Amino acid sequence: MTALLRRLYKLTQSAFERIGIYLVISRISRRNRPELVNKAIWKPFVVDDRWRTLYKETQAVAQGASTDNIFRQCRFYSTLQMANYAASLPVGDVIECGCWHGHSTIAIATILTDHRFSGRFHVFDSFEGGLSGFKEKDESYFELSEHEKRALIKQFASNFEFVSSVTAKFGFVELHRGWIPQSFASFAARPVKFVHIDVDMYDPTKAALEFFWDDLVSGGCIVVDDYNHAVFEGATRAVDEFLESRPPRIFYKVPFGGSCYIIK
Ligand SMILES: C[S@@+](CC[C@H](N)C(=O)[O-])C[C@H]1O[C@@H](n2cnc3c(N)ncnc32)[C@H](O)[C@@H]1O
Repeated sequence: MTALLRRLYKLTQSAFERIGIYLVISRISRRNRPELVNKAIWKPFVVDDRWRTLYKETQAVAQGASTDNIFRQCRFYSTLQMANYAASLPVGDVIECGCWHGHSTIAIATILTDHRFSGRFHVFDSFEGGLSGFKEKDESYFELSEHEKRALIKQFASNFEFVSSVTAKFGFVELHRGWIPQSFASFAARPVKFVHIDVDMYDPTKAALEFFWDDLVSGGCIVVDDYNHAVFEGATRAVDEFLESRPPRIFYKVPFGGSCYIIK
């Protein structure tokens, strides 16, 4: 019955779209507060600029269309500009924790190439099994069921061979296979200018912040992708706790799309 109604809804929606009317029916619930947005008001949604183009082109390479949505588009729009800022700093390697199919990795590597980057771009990922598990500090007001948690963990399983193949052409990307924080044990301290943390959960997010903070150059930037994401509240908790004892020069919470920037 639900499948039939869904089909009927899609058909009605297409019929209305043909006469220039956007029809949407959305359930209102604790997890869903719908609002219609006129995307034409923000020019990059209508005419692709450098960041929108980079987002789309690298998404195609990473075959990531299944997770495309307006929040992700806005998050990347901000993150890529911060990567571009950090790439202009004179000294430091670049770090990513959590690459999945390499969408953000390829986009950041493209920016680094534009800057004639001469350092190394170190990418840490378990390259197995998906996310690390939900613990107490990862619980959110969404109150995910065990089934939903398992599905999310599985959804983000990455693939070493695939990410190797799409990043090989850059020449400076080094993949570090293993679970964070154990995989940090053999990584020697060095100056870093940009750290992109996208591991969703409290434990690896906090571990990455603690591990790279001392190596971050003055003016260097950390982006935490999942900050203020309603599903992954562990990442927000990790950042807030971490910053209590390390006040950064700038802390900016990206309002639409989630994520935050920490500038040392
Ligand atoms: C949301 S995805 C990253 C998305 C990616 N940055 C992009 O742009 O599409 C999260 C990634 O973090 C990795 N990950 C999660 N927890 C980890 C941990 N404790 N150690 C290593 N990798 C982890 C997963 O394997 C997955 O590839």
